[in-house]
Amino acid sequence: MNVLHLDSSILGDASASRALTRSVVDGLRTVDRQVNVVQRDLGTAPIAHLTPQVLATRGTPADLLNDVQDREARLDADLLRELDWADVLVIGAPLYNFTIPTGLKAWIDRVTIAGKTFRYTAQGPEGLLKGKRAIVVATSGGVHGGSPVDTMHVGYLKTLLGFVGITDVEVIRAAGLGMGPEVRAQAMADARSRIDSMFVAAAA
Ligand SMILES: Cc1cc2nc3c(=O)[nH]c(=O)nc-3n(C[C@H](O)[C@H](O)[C@H](O)COP(=O)(O)O)c2cc1C
Repeated sequence: MNVLHLDSSILGDASASRALTRSVVDGLRTVDRQVNVVQRDLGTAPIAHLTPQVLATRGTPADLLNDVQDREARLDADLLRELDWADVLVIGAPLYNFTIPTGLKAWIDRVTIAGKTFRYTAQGPEGLLKGKRAIVVATSGGVHGGSPVDTMHVGYLKTLLGFVGITDVEVIRAAGLGMGPEVRAQAMADARSRIDSMFVAAAA
């Protein structure tokens, strides 16, 4: 099983989502001994946002790119190769200012490309990433389930993943992490037991 492990928290070792995505990857190892993992930490090693220069690399012959564009075009190719290779995406997605972190959005903008991960047809857009599974770890300081904030956070990610063809999406939530130590500890324990139960069931 090939796993693309994406983190996007800017809180380093204190990150709740990073701790939980690690548990998810550990869980995947319990159900498959042959797990290959590529990790991208979009929080501590952010990739460049889509700029006019980067956008102009798409469809431009390699020998016409300047040095910056050449580097960014190679990065785009690497990101697309990793995505194509992965059977499972494990995505750490904290809630920052009512939506996903900017580092994760930068990654999305670099891989959501017509003709590569989706295409337009006479029937409408079609996702090209078939047969993949995503496990999203959604953390938040407050509790927003069922609210417009949840739509902008988890709803957005599910819509985007569905757009590129990934409809098998499991969401593990840890909410209320800023509501005091007891609420935080309980939310983390609940998320961990949810992760454990996912893999106990899968291993059985
Ligand atoms: C820059 C920033 C913005 C945040 N914005 C929100 C927010 O809009 N709503 C909320 O409930 N929590 C917000 N939080 C709290 C985080 O969602 C919470 O700390 C969560 O644990 C983040 O996951 P992480 O520890 O993996 O980074 C914010 C935290 C940061 C650092």
